[in-house]
Amino acid sequence: MKLTINGKVHEFEVEAEMPLLWVLRDELGYTGTKFGCGIAQCGACTVHVDGLPARSCSTAIGDVDGSEITTIECLGTPDKLAPIQEAWVEHQVAQCGYCQSGQIMSAAALLDSIPSPTDEEIDAVMSGNLCRCGTYPRIRAAIKTAAAKMEG
Ligand code: FES
Repeated sequence: MKLTINGKVHEFEVEAEMPLLWVLRDELGYTGTKFGCGIAQCGACTVHVDGLPARSCSTAIGDVDGSEITTIECLGTPDKLAPIQEAWVEHQVAQCGYCQSGQIMSAAALLDSIPSPTDEEIDAVMSGNLCRCGTYPRIRAAIKTAAAKMEG
């Protein structure tokens, strides 16, 4: 298999049925992406596959061979956060934090497709990412702040 992950080409041998999440975390060490439910219901494992959000726990590696994968590790760095991450910090979105890398990846994909989303558009996209701490109002506010930063 061959994947481009965060701009770097990786070649490896695994079973075609292995979930992308396993490859990212266990084979390649990209542990920013989290295991949540394991059945594509909670969104904690969200990454981008060829620019679109995907649940990595339920994406077979054989189905994405040759694709470009983006994980949370690629959005920004501690010294230079991406606008979406800056907004997340400003609004103190994270509580326990477990769902948050998936939330941010879904939010980043949303802003790629809709640069200035309405509340309804945010809710429609982000409702697929569950947060047991109930950070939804902060997520919505942070997405609006990020959208304004990116427009500016
Ligand atoms: Fe705790 Fe979302 S911040 S589950």
